This record gives sequence, structure tokens and C-alpha cells, in this order.
Amino acid sequence: MTHRLSKTFGKSRVTTEQREKLVRSIFNRVAGRYDLMNDLMSMGIHRVWKHRFCKEINKASGKVFVDLAGGTGDIASTMINDHREVTIIDPSIEMMRIAETRLGNSCRYLAATAEDIPLPDNSVDVLTISFGIRNATDISKSLQEISRVLKPGGHFYCLEFSTPYAWLRPFYNTWSRIVIPRLGALVAGHPDAYTYLIESIREFPAQQEMAEMITSAGLNEVSYSNLSFGIACIHRASKTQ
Ligand SMILES: C[S@@+](CC[C@H](N)C(=O)[O-])C[C@H]1O[C@@H](n2cnc3c(N)ncnc32)[C@H](O)[C@@H]1O
Repeated sequence: MTHRLSKTFGKSRVTTEQREKLVRSIFNRVAGRYDLMNDLMSMGIHRVWKHRFCKEINKASGKVFVDLAGGTGDIASTMINDHREVTIIDPSIEMMRIAETRLGNSCRYLAATAEDIPLPDNSVDVLTISFGIRNATDISKSLQEISRVLKPGGHFYCLEFSTPYAWLRPFYNTWSRIVIPRLGALVAGHPDAYTYLIESIREFPAQQEMAEMITSAGLNEVSYSNLSFGIACIHRASKTQ
């Protein structure tokens, strides 16, 4: 099943090929300001979410860790230790360039999309994706790829924006529609990038729908935890032994 996000870019209807190119060009353009923008847009809360996410993933055992859509390396930086092989995968060379200046050769970098992961079947112990799956043009295919590369017994963790509780939505909608594109224009110089961000969040599957998509991709023990009243959400799942 192709998700409705696959043929939209912001408010425009586009082909999947156009969407892939547009998303890639956005991250290449905003890479230098990406971390600062995250702090401003979320008022620093994304750091609390990522801290919680990393605390959970770092409890998982295994040697081969992959951070998909790893961007500037926030998540991978917490995974690196002497006993692990950590790989960042991202289609944006500019985002990974920033990761490389932070993390050097303590991890591997692969330029690829979630829809086509350049790794063998059953080869990964822990696969994470943080604020990345929303950018995939084909979410179902990406989840199938994640399921394919995980070893039996391997774990998947996904941190993503989600659907906030009803009482929070009026404030959240105002913040996202009015404040974020203006911040994007002012700080990153790319209001279109941040309009895309808001639209992609609005169209992204809600908590339960996402859990069902993960199950349909063949993963088990799917569960999720809301963060900040559902503004973000951690989904987790594992591959059967
Ligand atoms: C919002 S950033 C998240 C970066 C990092 N994971 C974090 O949490 O800060 C989204 C990342 O997804 C990447 N991306 C875009 N399309 C993708 C795709 N089809 N597959 C995998 N990653 C993609 C972008 O290049 C970008 O680095």
C-alpha cells in the first residue's frame, strides 16, 4: 500500500521521483542550520525526546547498530563504543558531512535511502530511525527493508512526530503553521523547507496506524510510547528469532 505522503510535497501533488529529489535537496540546503533550527522549533524539547530514545536503544544488546536517516549524527553519537559497529545511512551527503566532522571515522557512512538499504539480509542487531521515516517516499517499503536487514531477534526503534492529544492541537497547529515557517525563513533562509516539514508531520500516520504498518512489514512485539502528549512518539518492534 502506498501512503498518501508518497505523492505530496508540502501542499503540492508531485510524482514519487519528484518528491525524492525535493526532499533530498531540502536536507542538503538546510544541513548547516539543521541542528540550530531543531532547537528553536521545538524549544529544545527534541533533545529530551532524543535523550529518552537513546537511553532506550543503548540498553539493547548486539554489535551491529545502524542509524537510518542518521543526518548530522545525533543518535549515532550516543551509540558509539568499542564493542559496536555503528553505521549512519542517509541520502543527504551534506547532512552526513556534518556527522563526519563530529564523529570522524568512529562510524561508517552510507549514502542511501530507507527504501533501498544497501545491507545484506539478517545482518543488523539494532536499527534506529529518528525523525526520518516521515521523509521516506514509500514508508511501507522502508519498513519492509528494515525488517529484511534485521537479524532474527534484532530490534527496531523509531522516533517520529505523531498526533498530539486533542486538547493540545489548537496550540500545536498555531505554533506549527505560523511560527515554524517564519523561523525557517529567518534562521535557515528556507521557509519552503519548513512548510514541507509541517505538512509531512500532518500527513504522517498516527500512533496506531504506524504500529499496524510496522506489524504489516513483518515485525513483532510492536509497542509505542507517546512523548510530550503525542507530539512525538517512540515505536519499537523486534524480528522473530
Ligand atoms: C529530520 S532529519 C533527521 C536527522 C536525524 N536522524 C535526527 O534525528 O536529527 C531527516 C533525515 O532524513 C533523511 N532522509 C530523507 N529522505 C530519506 C529517505 N528516503 N530515506 C532515509 N533517509 C531520508 C534526510 O536526508 C535527513 O537527514
